[in-house]
Amino acid sequence: MVKNEESDSYCFEDWTVMTREFEFNPANVNTILSQTWRHLQAAIETETHAWRLGTLATASEGRPRVRTVVLRDIQPERRELICYTDRRSDKISELEQTPWMEWMAYDSLTRVQIRLRGEATVHTNDDVSAAHWEKSSPEHRRGYITVAEPGTRSETPEPNLPDYLFDRLPNDEEAQLGYENFAVIVCRIDHLDWLQLRRNGHLAAQFLWTDKWEGHWKFA
Ligand SMILES: Cc1cc2nc3c(=O)[nH]c(=O)nc-3n(C[C@H](O)[C@H](O)[C@H](O)COP(=O)(O)O)c2cc1C
Repeated sequence: MVKNEESDSYCFEDWTVMTREFEFNPANVNTILSQTWRHLQAAIETETHAWRLGTLATASEGRPRVRTVVLRDIQPERRELICYTDRRSDKISELEQTPWMEWMAYDSLTRVQIRLRGEATVHTNDDVSAAHWEKSSPEHRRGYITVAEPGTRSETPEPNLPDYLFDRLPNDEEAQLGYENFAVIVCRIDHLDWLQLRRNGHLAAQFLWTDKWEGHWKFA
């Protein structure tokens, strides 16, 4: 680890990581929003970016449920964050009952936490899911070919994979079995909460979508 005196932060000695800073213009709060989308895009493209993993919260009969998901895509102009899941997982039935969601991610290098709130739409067996399935790798597709529904009780600790796929990837025909279980969750957000931890006092900002984004700084 090396200390970066200028930005008052510690960085790993790795260029891809060292160049990760959250730059913004204090005179223009909207630069927080544009930089947030820029970092989310970087997270999709860079496996080591901390925002590649998000915590997705849903509601289940009035109680919160959270889990880690991989950020797969964003559509900034449509205010969308996209992740993939198994259509038989609890989060899908929860979102079908109550579409409200929140997505949280924290990057310990830039020390920025984001919380994005909105409404989710689930896509299975449609044009949206087909387009994302097309982009996915055989390793990823294998995860959807299971022997049992995810979440069901097992008497022994074993992977939820058919025997024939223990040591190889599925061919195209086998992978198609997984498509039936594949779901794309599109989260359209209307609220963004931004927080940066700083030695000399934390900074915070908030953005709300009505028919455009309205942002303001706030006290942390
Ligand atoms: C690092 C990591 C990444 C994960 N990514 C995903 C993901 O992209 N999609 C997903 O459905 N589950 C993912 N999971 C598993 C979920 O966190 C969760 O355990 C699973 O989806 C069941 O959640 P549910 O019962 O609330 O639906 C991931 C778990 C970890 C630890």
